[in-house]
Amino acid sequence: MKVLAVCGSKRKNGNTASLLNKTLEPFKSADIETEIIFPGDLQFSGCSGCEGCSSGRLCIVKDDMQKIYPKIIEADALIAGSPTYFFNMTSDMKKFIDRCYCFFSFDKTDRSVWISRLNQPACKFLGLISVCEQNNIADMGVTPSAMQSAFESLGYRTVFSQKVLFSFKAGEVLKHEDQLQAAYDNGVRLLKTLKMSKSFG
Ligand SMILES: Cc1cc2nc3c(=O)[nH]c(=O)nc-3n(C[C@H](O)[C@H](O)[C@H](O)COP(=O)(O)O)c2cc1C
Repeated sequence: MKVLAVCGSKRKNGNTASLLNKTLEPFKSADIETEIIFPGDLQFSGCSGCEGCSSGRLCIVKDDMQKIYPKIIEADALIAGSPTYFFNMTSDMKKFIDRCYCFFSFDKTDRSVWISRLNQPACKFLGLISVCEQNNIADMGVTPSAMQSAFESLGYRTVFSQKVLFSFKAGEVLKHEDQLQAAYDNGVRLLKTLKMSKSFG
């Protein structure tokens, strides 16, 4: 069992990273392999739409995403966290998602027929964390829904979507005990979900 976390913020001690780490705690306690990656640390470009992946291969662009694809494939669950930047996810998270386009497979003559190779043979599970500065959910914009639609299209089933308001400075969320507890509880629920799914495998 393996869980991959993706942090859309560049701030290692920021709010998103703090919440992701809290969510991973139950997995670490259960000796389950976890990894957190920061797309902002990696050298990769956004999807160029070259369609090099259309003939059944994965992405042909030789950059740091090539190290990440095997991690995405291996992980049973993905936890994606992003701060809100201008009512949406950050460009680091968007770039990461766009490069997952290569997991889709389309019918050669009818593009309305398609699958994601990521949920073959079994679906993967998803946790989402969105963080913003303002204390009004409208100021989070489409951050949670845009991430959810994208990852669900890739074959993930959403287990939780935590929305954290009123957190501006890096690490400020550590003062919000209720949100830290919610992040931990979400981790526990995702862990139980994974164990249940494995028990049928
Ligand atoms: C470029 C930029 C755009 C932002 N846009 C919004 C926004 O639209 N709504 C909001 O509430 N907060 C916005 N924020 C605040 C961040 O979402 C907030 O500081 C968040 O806690 C940062 O998360 P981090 O600590 O994980 O980096 C913005 C911050 C930056 C730097």
